[in-house]
Amino acid sequence: MSKAPNISADYVSSGLFRLDGKVAIVTGGASGMGEAMVHALAQSGATVVIADFDLDAAKATAESVADRDYTLHTAQVDVADKASVDALIASVVEAHGHIDVLVNSAGIAGRFPAEDFPEDAYDRIIAVNLKGSFLMAQAVGRQMIAQGDGGSIINMASIGAFNAYPQASAYLQSKGGVLQLTRSLALEWFDHGIRVNALAPTIYATSMMAKGAKKTTVTQDFIDARQLIDRMGEPHEMAGAAVFLASRAAKMVTGHTLAVDAGYLAV
Ligand SMILES: NC(=O)c1ccc[n+]([C@@H]2O[C@H](COP(=O)([O-])OP(=O)(O)OC[C@H]3O[C@@H](n4cnc5c(N)ncnc54)[C@H](O)[C@@H]3O)[C@@H](O)[C@H]2O)c1
Repeated sequence: MSKAPNISADYVSSGLFRLDGKVAIVTGGASGMGEAMVHALAQSGATVVIADFDLDAAKATAESVADRDYTLHTAQVDVADKASVDALIASVVEAHGHIDVLVNSAGIAGRFPAEDFPEDAYDRIIAVNLKGSFLMAQAVGRQMIAQGDGGSIINMASIGAFNAYPQASAYLQSKGGVLQLTRSLALEWFDHGIRVNALAPTIYATSMMAKGAKKTTVTQDFIDARQLIDRMGEPHEMAGAAVFLASRAAKMVTGHTLAVDAGYLAV
């Protein structure tokens, strides 16, 4: 029997998931899943810029790699502020020459009953999670189009983009918007070789979860009822999916939302 063409016996060691020579920006990279994705992208060979509102936290994350064989770069940004985003992109291009990967992990939450949701909290959640993801993607997409050799943009959605849970109406609206942001940019930029995808986490044990813990409805009973794997995710358990979407292993994947959700959306 003849062997099928283009079948490699050794995909992984041929560098399918490697990101050598790529420059990646991870917003919200100082903490939680962003921090885990920063390390995973750097360990895959990328030059990584941690772009976070909290510069001290970003520096602390960068310094946590002292014994490792990669260096992390830091920058301050407010993703909800166009001038701040544009300044970030200019500084990354000046320092590193190009941008190949963007992970939009910056995000905030806020829990209030819908009937009492404060307008300022609503505005900030939409501004950071939805408008901020758009502003970052717009600025990076423009740069990628000018570079002419494509790229990968990864947005952080949520299982809350699909299913509702209580006291999170602004957050759920923002994450639903991230799904359509992902699809619309994938459609507009596919012919530039820019792939745009999203990740949809279930509940992960991060500072976002800890901050909301007092008001949260996420109990073990909630997890047992809604997930197949009956525990919260750990931040590092998001890392492999980000490397996959950033790499040429995912070169046929665009406009997609990959649920890393312990089976939440299956039941
Ligand atoms: N933790 C979860 O259970 C969960 C579930 C689904 C989706 N998500 C999403 O995953 C992403 C990461 O969440 P996490 O739990 O790791 O959060 P986290 O709170 O640990 O980290 C968020 C980071 O974003 C930064 N940030 C906040 N506002 C910013 C701004 N305006 N500009 C730049 N940086 C800003 C923070 O300083 C922080 O470092 C978020 O988009 C979140 O909505 C989280």
